[in-house]
Amino acid sequence: MYAARRYLMCPPAHFRVTYSINPWMDPGKPVDLRLAHAQWEDLRDRYRALGHTVEILDPVQGLPDMVYAANGATVVQGQVLGARFAHPERADEAAAHRAWYRAHGFGEVTEPVHINEGEGDFAVTGQWLLAGRGFRSSPLSHGEAQEFFGRPVIGLDLIDPRYYHLDTALCVLDPEREDVMYYPPAFSPGSRAVLARLFPQALLAEEQDAAALGLNAVSDGHHVLLPQAATGLLVPLRSRGYDPVPIDLTELLKGGGSVKCVTAELRT
Ligand code: ARG
Repeated sequence: MYAARRYLMCPPAHFRVTYSINPWMDPGKPVDLRLAHAQWEDLRDRYRALGHTVEILDPVQGLPDMVYAANGATVVQGQVLGARFAHPERADEAAAHRAWYRAHGFGEVTEPVHINEGEGDFAVTGQWLLAGRGFRSSPLSHGEAQEFFGRPVIGLDLIDPRYYHLDTALCVLDPEREDVMYYPPAFSPGSRAVLARLFPQALLAEEQDAAALGLNAVSDGHHVLLPQAATGLLVPLRSRGYDPVPIDLTELLKGGGSVKCVTAELRT
């Protein structure tokens, strides 16, 4: 019914909120590191219990956002397009990711010319590479990714700073069936029209679930691991045949990320 996936995660050993580069981050708000660890470990263990492989990227001191492993690269059919971060605070994460891929047998590992924040802004469907722009990834990174992967890139304009990465506003539920869920108000009118044309059957999220970062979910084509506060998505997901798995990641939400942000998918 679903195939085993391979994921890459980075433990929150050095996670802090010491700067603010998105509206979710408030350096004045304390983070409970022990709880962050426990929540992160619970997610890792859930993936493993479902039969998925979770690889571990060593955290680097001084890079508090490195726990959001989805931003470090995009991997499709074993080809790795590295990241280039928009903010200097995260710049050094890119090299750590490239080094990990090189050390783990990925042949083609490319350092990009243009800014792209990995799977934060790139989402892979059966046919397309959906690509966000507006806050982080450069529109020029879309052409670069299209050339690198040889897949048609669909550029999507993000317009609400709370949904600063594509993966905060859209989730691929099943690449084979081209099934996605997204929050329309996060996108420009033109991009909404593009999404409606490509995915006429998509699950459209309500504001309350989007605001709980409910679209920041990971699907293996059957189980959908999603932030537990996004309760409004449970019934629609079940009625489409998915098995939603609520996950408590409140501490990592303080950095502006949830399930998907902390999970890079290694598509080999
Ligand atoms: N604090 C991080 C940032 O603003 C959060 C990244 C979340 N990751 C994601 N894939 N959306 O860059």
